Amino acid sequence: MKIKSIVLVSITLISISLLSLAFYSCGKGSGDVIKIGEFASLTGSEATFGINSDNGMKLAVEEINNAGGVLGKKIELITEDNQGKPNETQTVVQKLINRDKVVAILGEVASSRSKAAAPLCQQNKIPMITPASTNPEVTAIGDYIFRVCFIDPFQATVMSKFALNSMKVKKVALLIDQRNAYSTGLAESFKKTFVEMGGEIIEEQKYSAGDKDFKAQLTAIKYKNPEAVFIPGYYTDVGLIAIQAREIGINVPLFGGDGWESEKLTEGKAKDALEGCFFSTHLSMDDPSPLVQDFIKKYRTKFNKEPDAMSVLGYDAAMLMFDAIKRAGSTDGDKIRQELAKTKDFKSVSGNITINEQRNAVKPAVVLEIKDGKFKYKETIAP
Ligand code: PHE
Repeated sequence: MKIKSIVLVSITLISISLLSLAFYSCGKGSGDVIKIGEFASLTGSEATFGINSDNGMKLAVEEINNAGGVLGKKIELITEDNQGKPNETQTVVQKLINRDKVVAILGEVASSRSKAAAPLCQQNKIPMITPASTNPEVTAIGDYIFRVCFIDPFQATVMSKFALNSMKVKKVALLIDQRNAYSTGLAESFKKTFVEMGGEIIEEQKYSAGDKDFKAQLTAIKYKNPEAVFIPGYYTDVGLIAIQAREIGINVPLFGGDGWESEKLTEGKAKDALEGCFFSTHLSMDDPSPLVQDFIKKYRTKFNKEPDAMSVLGYDAAMLMFDAIKRAGSTDGDKIRQELAKTKDFKSVSGNITINEQRNAVKPAVVLEIKDGKFKYKETIAP
């Protein structure tokens, strides 16, 4: 009788401890892995943004895990495709936080989608780093939201200076993607700085991402005889805009921001239409620094293709998150957030990262020229 109850009690105790162990390992950042969530546009019209930033993050995870992981645990990256849609972004980010119990989140490239995710991360006290969203409002959402890139008011200053001093143009027309937060924000900043520096905006026209006919807007622009046209949009529309601009006889240079950067920008007829045009972005792949050149080699070996700015920023965002978790000595959201905020001179492929009071990275920008369908380094403009 006595022996029987001892056996029963022990079996119960063992089952309870096994069960709680099982529960514990499913919990937040516990067990033998640290779960980090990622949301990206792996499909949809801007898929190069998502695929390339995702590749960069995967490379970072592989390297950190080969080097022993973080706090003695392996990193597990849980990636969700938001199909390039803000609504889908909210669904997948909820899932990452509530179901997967990730301790931190990486994403996105497009500002509109980072803006959709940030309030959820903020409410749930999950630190989030966007690799490439440049709209100022993204990190303004709250103290859990960070970025490893510069912001659009700076990018606007860079292109205003470049237009006035290097392109030597003063009369500029604007063509804006009216429902894209990145495009409208960058346009506003550009108008302000360009005029302050002595330039003139002589025409402003709007389009919507995915439009196929820009002739009406381009005709209105042509009529005003600008010396250049600033198009703060995404590569997905810029190629077609350039082709149609040339067709109706606009022969002046077109220029834009980082949203132009994609291997798809100069496909087909867009290659000739964009010859001699310029855009600002985060770094140049021609940069001879060993950090950049080693990254390019590693990336080519793993993915059998060329990296772009998104690949590098994805890698840098992931590496900064790992470093902050190490420094925090914990996967607690508040502790990670505090360490992210303290980041100073963190060595990164896209340039050293210092996080300022607004949780933005203060970094230089580069201007690239399109030559023969390739992106050639023109100049670096410091903050
Ligand atoms: N900066 C853009 C945005 O905020 C995204 C982007 C970054 C696009 C880098 C291309 C290259 O929407």
